[in-house]
Amino acid sequence: LLSSQRKIMTLAPPEIRFEPQPLTQQERGRQKLQQPFCLWLTGLSGAGKSTIATLLEQHFFAEGRHSYVLDGDVLRRGLNRDLGFTQADRVENMRRTTEVARLLVDAGLIVIVALISPYRSERNLARARFQPGEFVEIYVDASLKECERRDPKGLYAKARRGELKNFTGIDSSYEPPEAPEIHLDSVGSSPQECVDFVMTYLQARGLI
Ligand SMILES: Nc1ncnc2c1ncn2[C@@H]1O[C@H](COP(=O)(O)OP(=O)(O)OP(=O)(O)O)[C@@H](O)[C@H]1O
Ligand SMILES: [Mg+2]
Repeated sequence: LLSSQRKIMTLAPPEIRFEPQPLTQQERGRQKLQQPFCLWLTGLSGAGKSTIATLLEQHFFAEGRHSYVLDGDVLRRGLNRDLGFTQADRVENMRRTTEVARLLVDAGLIVIVALISPYRSERNLARARFQPGEFVEIYVDASLKECERRDPKGLYAKARRGELKNFTGIDSSYEPPEAPEIHLDSVGSSPQECVDFVMTYLQARGLI
């Protein structure tokens, strides 16, 4: 409590109660000199979500902004370790990630989600948990062929050998965004160019 509030509490007659007001998202953001929002990166495995998310966080950090990456792989090692890759589990994976992103935005942070998030309906449910303009859907676009060529974790090879079930793009569907705020071509441009593109958008929208 502020000391002025304490004084009111001690001086006021017992029937007058001081109701503490919860801080707002705007106030928490203002303390960090930033506007909180959520960047939601969706795309195939190997498209470049984690790579771009990490670069974005470093960029924000260098500018003195407080951002945080929610990476699908990291979440699956902890919060979501009980979930697999069935449709139902992927839906739950997205729901939990959405709620954590929502809480961190409420805490005043710039949240960067890096999650395959294959289903359009679930991405729209995520969007609906935020205020208009606060949710920026970013399609990290690379063809299946290119992702399979990159195969940074060797997962496509495993899936092709039948050692991995329900792999996105192979035997599990990916529904590309129809109207993302940002469409990144991660084949024709470098990771840094993708980051610059995002920053230009955020500046134009007055988010940074
Ligand atoms: N423009 C680009 N943006 C991002 N990554 C790129 C780009 N061009 C090439 N790459 C390379 O593509 C790979 C992308 O791997 P990354 O782990 O970021 O994918 P991901 O989308 O996070 O996959 P997953 O869903 O499996 O976690 C990296 O090896 C990266 O160096
Ligand atoms: Mg990743």
